[in-house]
Amino acid sequence: MNEMIPPAGDRAAALKGLGSSRKRVEDVRFTQGKGAYVDDIKLKDMVFGDFVRSPYAHARVVSVNKEAALAVPGVIAVLTAEDLAPLGLHWMPTLAGDRQMVLADGKVLYQGQEVAFVVAENRYACADAIELVEVDYEALPVVTDPFKALEPDAPVLREDLAGKTEGAHGPRRHHNHIFLWEQGDRAATEAVIDGADVVAEERIHYHRTHPCPLETCGCVASMDKITGKLTLWGTFQAPHAVRTVASLISGIAEHNIRVISPDIGGGFGNKVGVYPGYVCSIVASIVTGRPVKWVEDRMDNLMTTAFARDYWMDGRIAATKDGRITGLWCHVTADHGGFDACADPTKFPAGFFNICTGSYDIPVAYVGVDGVYTNKAPGGVAYRCSFRVTEAAYFIERMVDILAIKLGMDPVELRLKNFIRKDQFPYHSALGWEYDSGDYHTAMEQALAAVDYKGLRAEQAERLEAFKRGESRSLMGVGVAFFTEIVGAGPVKNCDILGLGMFDSCEIRIHPTGSAIARLGTISQGQGHATTFAQILASEIGIPADDITVEEGDTDTAPYGLGTYGSRSTPVAGAATAMAGRKIRAKAQMIAAYLLEVHDDDVEFDVDRFQIKGAPERFKTMKEIAFAAYNQAIPGLEPGLEAVSYYDPPNMTYPFGAYICVMDVDVDTGVCDVRRVYALDDCGTRINPMIIEGQVHGGLTEALAIAMGQEIAYDEDGNVTTGTLMDFFIPTAVETPHYETDHTVTPSPHHPIGAKGVGESPNVGGVPMFSNAVMDAFKPFGLTHAHMPHDHWRVWRIANGLGLHG
Ligand code: CDP
Repeated sequence: MNEMIPPAGDRAAALKGLGSSRKRVEDVRFTQGKGAYVDDIKLKDMVFGDFVRSPYAHARVVSVNKEAALAVPGVIAVLTAEDLAPLGLHWMPTLAGDRQMVLADGKVLYQGQEVAFVVAENRYACADAIELVEVDYEALPVVTDPFKALEPDAPVLREDLAGKTEGAHGPRRHHNHIFLWEQGDRAATEAVIDGADVVAEERIHYHRTHPCPLETCGCVASMDKITGKLTLWGTFQAPHAVRTVASLISGIAEHNIRVISPDIGGGFGNKVGVYPGYVCSIVASIVTGRPVKWVEDRMDNLMTTAFARDYWMDGRIAATKDGRITGLWCHVTADHGGFDACADPTKFPAGFFNICTGSYDIPVAYVGVDGVYTNKAPGGVAYRCSFRVTEAAYFIERMVDILAIKLGMDPVELRLKNFIRKDQFPYHSALGWEYDSGDYHTAMEQALAAVDYKGLRAEQAERLEAFKRGESRSLMGVGVAFFTEIVGAGPVKNCDILGLGMFDSCEIRIHPTGSAIARLGTISQGQGHATTFAQILASEIGIPADDITVEEGDTDTAPYGLGTYGSRSTPVAGAATAMAGRKIRAKAQMIAAYLLEVHDDDVEFDVDRFQIKGAPERFKTMKEIAFAAYNQAIPGLEPGLEAVSYYDPPNMTYPFGAYICVMDVDVDTGVCDVRRVYALDDCGTRINPMIIEGQVHGGLTEALAIAMGQEIAYDEDGNVTTGTLMDFFIPTAVETPHYETDHTVTPSPHHPIGAKGVGESPNVGGVPMFSNAVMDAFKPFGLTHAHMPHDHWRVWRIANGLGLHG
C-alpha cells in the first residue's frame, strides 16, 4: 500500500516550497508588457497636475502671478501655499519629526522645490501653463557644504525654526543644526585610542546619491464626493502608512481612504516618504471633484525626491601592534538638505549607523552624528540599505583597510584576526546590537579559496613589477569587503515610524478546493514576493505554491503592515506568513484527526498531509482537509480555514557576506576595468536561490554605480549638476561585469524559518569592495584613501597626484 504514496521528497518538490528556484510568477505579465503601473491608470474625467519648481537653491518668494497661466486653454487651477494655508496643508510632517513645505511658503530651500501646482485637462496644457506662472524670487546666499552651514555666520535656512533650541531628536546648537545622536562610550573609547599602539585616522565621505528607480514617483487621487471615499493609487513602498498619514493630514476618516500600490517599477527607498505631489493631487481632486494624476519626470525625481547617503564620517580606529582592534571612534556630519525628511525609525535619527563596528569584535566604540540643514533636497532614504547600514559598512571596511596599511598587514589577515567568532553568537556589540548568528571565518575562508586569494596577490605583485619596469600602464587592485547587515526592522519595542510599530502581517484564506490566497502588509517593487511568499506558505501548509495567490498593496484588503524597504519583508512579513501558515496547520491537524477518527496528538504533518503516527498509509491530504473545513460540522470547531498573523520580530536579522573583486586601473585614462567579482552571501535559510541570485546581481550593479560614478552633485550656487541620466551614472549591460555568486547558510535562530533578508546586502558589501579595489591598486604608491565616486576623472587625478604621469 505504501508504494502508492509518492516519496516525501517528490511530494515536497511538487510543492515548489522553500529552497526551490521557482520561476517568478510575476514575469508572465512583466515580460509581456502587461504590468499595471500608476501611469497606466486612466480614469473617466481624469485631469493632470504638475509643479512650478524653483530654479534657485535659496530665495525668498516675493510674489506668484497665476494670471497668464490660468488663461491657457484647459488649465483648471493653479495652487500656491496661500491656497493650501486655510486647509493647514501648506506644510506637512516628515517621517523624521520635522515639517516640510508642500508648496513654497515665503521662501525656497533647494533647487527644484515645489512652488505652485498647476491642474489642467492634459499634460500639454499643464506644461504650457507652468512656463507662464510668474514667480518673483529674491536670491539669498546658498550653503551646500554642511561644515560651512554650521559656521556662526552661516545663512539662516529654516526661518520657521527661529529660536527653537529643541528639535524632534533633542537640542539644536546652531540655527542650521538638526540633532546630535550619540551611541557608545565616548570617554572609554577616547582613552583606548589615546593609549593605543597604533591608530588609523581618516575622513571618509559617502557622497550624495539617489535610488533612481526606473519608474519615477507618482499618484492618482480620486475623491468620490458621493461616497466620501478617497482612493489613492501611488508608487508607495508603505501603503498602509500612507493611508494613516493621509488621514491625519487631511482629516478624512481612515476608513474612507483606500490606498493602492499597483505594480511598482523599483523603489530602493525612494518611494517610502510622502511627497508634495501626493498632497497636492489629493487637494486638487477634492477641489475639482475629478481624479488627478501626478507623475514626475526623471529630472524632478533626481533633483527633488529623496536622496541617499551624504555622510562625512571622521573615524579613528585603534589596534595593538599585532593587529588586534581595541577601539573605534566616529563622528558623522550628516547633510540632510532643507528639511529633515529622513526615513528612519523614530528612535534612530541616523538609522542603524551604529552597526558600524561591522563584523569585528571591537571592545569599545563611540558614534556621534550631527544632522545639518543645507540648501539641498530633503530625504536621506535607505537606498537599497537598511537605514544607514550602507554608510556604516563602507566606513568600517575602509577603516580596516587603512588600519591594515598602517600595520603593514594584509587586509584579509587583519579581518580574520578580528572577526566575531562563531561561538560568540548571539554577540552583543559595543554600540548596542545583539547579532543573532554568524560564521564569518567559514565564509571568508570559502571566499579566499574560491578566488585563490594568494594567487591573486602574487599576480598583483608581478604586475606591479611590470608597471615599475615601464612595461605596463595599468595597476591591479584586489578589493575585499566583509559586511554584516542588520535587516528586519523591527521589534516594535524600539522601531516605529510616526508612532506606528514596525510589525508586519499576513492573512491566509484556504479555499474549499484546496487553493489559497495570502495577503500581506508589504509591497513588492520587483523583488518577487508573489513567488517567494507562496513558497514559504507551500512548505508550511502543504499546498503547492502554484495554487497560492499572493496579494499586496491594497489597504482595503491587505492586513495592516509597514511596507517594504530595508530588506524587512522576509524577516518580518515572511515570518508572519510562516506563523499564519502554522495557525492553518494547527486547525488542519484537528480536522484531520476528526476525519481519521483519532486524537489530535496521534496525527503528524508530512509535507502535504496529516497521517496517523506509525500508519502513514492512513492520511488526509491538505486538499481533503480544506474541503472538510467547509462541508463538515466538526464538533468544537468553526467552519472555514483562515488565519492571520501580526508578527513583531524579537530581533533584527544579521545577514553577512564576503565579497572580493579584481580590478585593472589604467593610470593614463583613469578607467577601472572590473575583471572579476565574487560575492558570497549568507542570508540564512534560502527561500528561492534564483531570486536571491537576481537580488545579488542587481545590488552589485547598483554598488558598482555608486562606487564608480553615480552622484548627485551641486555647484556652489546649489544647482544640481547631475540631474539627468546623461550625467547620473546608471550602468548598462556594457559596464556591468560578470558576477560569481556563492553562499553559506547560517539560519537566524529567532526567525520561524531561519531566513534573513538579502535584498540590500550586495549594495552594502559591494560599495566598499569596489572602492577598496581602487585604493588597493594605488596602495604601493602611498595612497591610503580617496573619496568616491571613483569615476575616470577622479581616478586619473589620483594617479596624477601620486606622480604616476611622469
Ligand atoms: O524587503 P525586500 O523584499 O526588499 O527584501 P528581502 O526580504 O531581502 O527579499 C528580497 C527577495 O529575496 C524576496 O523575494 C525574498 O523572498 C527573497 N529572499 C529569499 O529567497 N531568501 C532569503 N533568505 C531572503 C530573501
